[in-house]
Amino acid sequence: MRAEMTHLAADLCGLRLKNPTILAAGILDETGRSMVEVARAGAGAIVTKSIGQEPRPGHQNPTIVELPDGLLNAMGLPNPGIDIFKDEILEARPGGVPIIGSVFGGTEDEIANLAGAMEKAGADAVELNLSCPHAKGYGAELGSTPEAVEMVCRKTKAKVSVPVFAKLTPNTSSIAALALAAERGGADAVVAINTLKGMVISPEARMPILGNKVGGLSGPAIRPVGVRCVYEIFEAVKIPVIGVGGIVSGRDAIEYIMAGARAVQIGTGVWYDGPEIFTKVCTQMIRFMEENGFGTVDEMVGVAHPGRN
Ligand code: DHB
Repeated sequence: MRAEMTHLAADLCGLRLKNPTILAAGILDETGRSMVEVARAGAGAIVTKSIGQEPRPGHQNPTIVELPDGLLNAMGLPNPGIDIFKDEILEARPGGVPIIGSVFGGTEDEIANLAGAMEKAGADAVELNLSCPHAKGYGAELGSTPEAVEMVCRKTKAKVSVPVFAKLTPNTSSIAALALAAERGGADAVVAINTLKGMVISPEARMPILGNKVGGLSGPAIRPVGVRCVYEIFEAVKIPVIGVGGIVSGRDAIEYIMAGARAVQIGTGVWYDGPEIFTKVCTQMIRFMEENGFGTVDEMVGVAHPGRN
């Protein structure tokens, strides 16, 4: 009886998701074709690569180091620029899932304008990358003060009618304060977390491995940080939280949901398992829910908080 009732369908700021697993920005999301492939493999929605105003080649190699429990990367926000990228959204449509356009920029107005261009190109929502940990003048530099986060959300909300998600940096003393600022600025949801700032040195070469020296750490190593951030944000704001950081199994996704996330994103897990990870995570979530008496994702949101379980 329960088995038939258990389902993963979720509503996220009016977006209807067949399941709450979303492709995170930065992996397999540079072309319409790859986004269709990930959607067909089971993702409930897709976030595009972070796109800026002008084409950018990105940082010098090496741009990625594989570590025992994660990845350190400093791609440098390589992208073709919005004018060229916009057609990829149309080409992603046959995937049949909501497309969330990720944008970054050097100023609040630039980000708001890019969000407008993403909406015009057909994006169902926009995600503001306020949290790239190392591209100078972009991302976390703008996203680490509550005042700037509030202002960029407000300016973006004035430009678009699709939902606005603010992706926040954990490289701060209070991510809850940033989430509150996003909420004040009118953001429809917050996404937590982006990568943690890190460095790896080659003792033989006597120098940092990444071309950019500093990069962003992702993967299972950062999951406890992400879960803690979502937990803190859930206690601070009323808008939905989207959890991301180190999810590779159904249990990992459920940790985030019990901390307060309404949906989750998967990035580095796709590097490990390929697009099939979405179906794997969903199957494992359903099994856990059946075994533990949960019929819907909603019933699990925030239950790890006192008084909610
Ligand atoms: C890059 C951007 C990010 O937002 C991030 O978390 C890591 C790397 C990049 O393009 O370099």
